[in-house]
Amino acid sequence: MKKRKFPGLFVVIEGVDNSGKSTQIRRLTAALRRRGVDAVTVREPGGTAVSEKIRHLLKDRKLQVENRTELLLFLAARAQVTAEVIIPALRAGKVVLADRYSLSTYAYQIGGRKMPEDVVFPADEFSRFSVEPDLVFVLDIPPAEARRRMATAGLSPDRIERENSTFFSRVRRYYRQAAKAADNLVLLDGRRDAADLAVTIRLRVLQALNRKSK
Ligand SMILES: Nc1ncnc2c1ncn2[C@@H]1O[C@H](COP(=O)(O)OP(=O)(O)OP(=O)(O)O)[C@@H](O)[C@H]1O
Ligand SMILES: [Mg+2]
Repeated sequence: MKKRKFPGLFVVIEGVDNSGKSTQIRRLTAALRRRGVDAVTVREPGGTAVSEKIRHLLKDRKLQVENRTELLLFLAARAQVTAEVIIPALRAGKVVLADRYSLSTYAYQIGGRKMPEDVVFPADEFSRFSVEPDLVFVLDIPPAEARRRMATAGLSPDRIERENSTFFSRVRRYYRQAAKAADNLVLLDGRRDAADLAVTIRLRVLQALNRKSK
């Protein structure tokens, strides 16, 4: 499938929970805005009224959710945020910064839940109207570091975060292998200092922006 071209730049930050995605999105948004770049941020699942309601469902610890239902809910949320926010922003030449996108679905549903690629890939492509990110950063941390951060922050795990450590090892492995296989994916050691990571990410994004404007 040919990549759809837009004047804007689509950047995604990926990684397991507590890998530092929100921290990096915040820093990158601030850095771009300081340079006068119009940046729109979205989080997945979420980013629109409908998608935030779906997020709520997906995180609810009281609910039993079938794997197929979970996949379709994530994709339903993605379709809405893609149509309502991402495509219009990219058409308008803006930079879109997404906290998770399709690679999360691959890592969690294919890697974690062991759903078949030949089901997940086309369904995901349908949900995102064939839009593809220009640049994806994967923040890689070991499961023990993720647990340590959650404990330090005093957070309690949501429905998905309650999965066992072999689940998260599979998710992590998927992320790491995906990053090796694609050239628009950048694997970063999420244990590095947050400010230092922000510099690496910012430079890559500014480079990509420069290339776009030529
Ligand atoms: N590079 C880093 N080194 C050490 N700690 C970090 C780093 N980046 C973020 N943290 C800390 O780890 C915790 C999780 O960070 P953050 O909320 O950015 O992660 P996240 O990937 O967005 O998590 P979630 O998936 O749960 O939203 C926070 O307490 C944050 O301060
Ligand atoms: Mg976050």
